[in-house]
Amino acid sequence: MSSIKHYLQFKDLDASECAYVFERAAFIKRKFKAVEKYQPFADPDRTLAMIFEKASTRTRVSFEAGMYQMGGSVVHLTTGDSQLGRAEPIEDSARVISRMVDLVMIRTYEQSKIESFAAHSRVPVINGLTNEFHPCQILADIFTFIEHRGSIKGKVVAWVGDGNNMANTWLQAAELLGFTVHVSTPGGYEVDPVLAGVKDRGCYKVFKDPREACAGADLVTTDVWTSMGFEAENEARRKAFAQWCVDENMMRAAKADALFMHCLPAHRGEEVSAEVIDGPQSVVWDEAENRMHAQKALMEYLLLGRLA
Ligand code: CP
Ligand code: NVA
Repeated sequence: MSSIKHYLQFKDLDASECAYVFERAAFIKRKFKAVEKYQPFADPDRTLAMIFEKASTRTRVSFEAGMYQMGGSVVHLTTGDSQLGRAEPIEDSARVISRMVDLVMIRTYEQSKIESFAAHSRVPVINGLTNEFHPCQILADIFTFIEHRGSIKGKVVAWVGDGNNMANTWLQAAELLGFTVHVSTPGGYEVDPVLAGVKDRGCYKVFKDPREACAGADLVTTDVWTSMGFEAENEARRKAFAQWCVDENMMRAAKADALFMHCLPAHRGEEVSAEVIDGPQSVVWDEAENRMHAQKALMEYLLLGRLA
């Protein structure tokens, strides 16, 4: 079972595999835009099981629509409507589900849970968000950066806000693909390189002042102050993060042609001002759409490998 290719963290693909997936995403997106059929999962029919233990709009729609467009099918499971919510062991769920489908996508809490599932799965498992990582999102974000600005190698990405699953994944991507993340978080919400799984501390720099983190950045990005599963900390976080709102002043500190990204859903007036997210530097709608194209390319790679 160890030879199965899973996508549990960003670094589960190496740099050359990432480059391949970005190329395929561009090809698959062109087909979609031209309204041309591209159905590598039609014969034999491939099935994706999607397991959601947390809410989702983009991840659900992008995987489900993407799978159908490629000629495959999906099965949608949540904690509430499956035995997962009645304490069936994750290992047993993995053994059973992976005997009936070709691919599994999971959105859950601890990374250890998705790792246990993958260890007992006969088919590839994709991380659709855990407390620690959100690799499909960063795959789409970097694909979006490449579309707008070319290679991300050597560039500066400013991360303003929580040292969360998105921040951890940006750090992994920076180490793998050779760019730098300027991180600014409030005290107590810092990134942890061990948790993020990065060895090279040169892939990121820490700034107390978020405006300094944005200085000279090619891309400014942020996320909600309170991630799913941390709602009990909402009030404390509102106070701690008050200065970590990406506004026009912060964008002015970045390069004149800097892009703004946000994985969404966003809270205007909290982590980002309406002027920025709805302004000319924002590419958040491309970013959201590209979840589907990037994940179609990822699923194609995990199921079919490199195509000639
Ligand atoms: N960005 C993202 O993963 O969105 P959803 O929570 O809507 O899936
Ligand atoms: N950091 C956020 C991302 C949501 C897509 C969360 O985990 O809730």
